[in-house]
Amino acid sequence: MPDPILKVAALSARYGKVHAVTDAVLEVGAGQIVTVIGANGAGKSTLLNAIMGSLPTSGSAQGEVVYAGERVSDWAVERRVAGGMSLVPERRELFASMTVEDNLLLGGFRRYRAGEKDWRDEMENVFALFPRLKERRRQHAGTLSGGERQMLAVGRALMAKPRLLMLDEPSLGLAPRIVREIFHIIAGLRETGVATLLVEQNARAALQVADHGYVLETGEVVLSGPADELAGNPRVVESYLGLGKNRKE
Ligand SMILES: Nc1ncnc2c1ncn2[C@@H]1O[C@H](COP(=O)(O)OP(=O)(O)OP(=O)(O)O)[C@@H](O)[C@H]1O
Ligand SMILES: [Mg+2]
Repeated sequence: MPDPILKVAALSARYGKVHAVTDAVLEVGAGQIVTVIGANGAGKSTLLNAIMGSLPTSGSAQGEVVYAGERVSDWAVERRVAGGMSLVPERRELFASMTVEDNLLLGGFRRYRAGEKDWRDEMENVFALFPRLKERRRQHAGTLSGGERQMLAVGRALMAKPRLLMLDEPSLGLAPRIVREIFHIIAGLRETGVATLLVEQNARAALQVADHGYVLETGEVVLSGPADELAGNPRVVESYLGLGKNRKE
């Protein structure tokens, strides 16, 4: 594996007495796409929020999160963002009454405030990735289709030029054709050098695009390996790819 941009060790998170993630260990190599697959309630969102330092106030996390060689476990979320970590949350949190363009500009706000002169230039890169957003740049975010909203959420995250992009179920609620389109774009992000941690219930799509994968069950990492090996693992096939109980497509 290339040098890890993210290393998580013994990470546990809970909400009061509810243990949502227990002793999770995972790594994301620089420029890699790594996926965490798991069923509803497995702890996927909790894991991402714990890595980002953005658990709700009812939650708490313990353990090691090392990003770009620094232990960030005690850093506030703002500091992690400034350092290049970016999370597209399950609730996309777009500004519905603002245009596509203004939502994107907000994604670059931190770079603007930091005095980066070329912060606006990133928008053309985002439009090159998502031509549909360019066509709809003056449309209000609230009137976009589900797939376009997802594109905007990813595009807005990219405006911050992250080194680690974390995506919480980008396929959620989207038709298979749109899922393919979005995952194709995620795969293309590899060339920009950004590392992606992709949390998904859609194991089939996620394992196709990822280099490496982890399986999360009731808060524990129960399996991990190269994505193509996981896709052939009988347990994964049975529970996540076949006609098992977790099948969602
Ligand atoms: N704010 C909260 N307060 C209390 N319990 C919570 C909270 N958020 C999540 N949980 C619990 O933690 C566990 C893991 O939830 P989480 O949202 O991380 O799962 P998930 O894998 O993201 O599920 P989904 O695929 O449905 O998004 C669940 O049992 C859930 O009920
Ligand atoms: Mg979730």
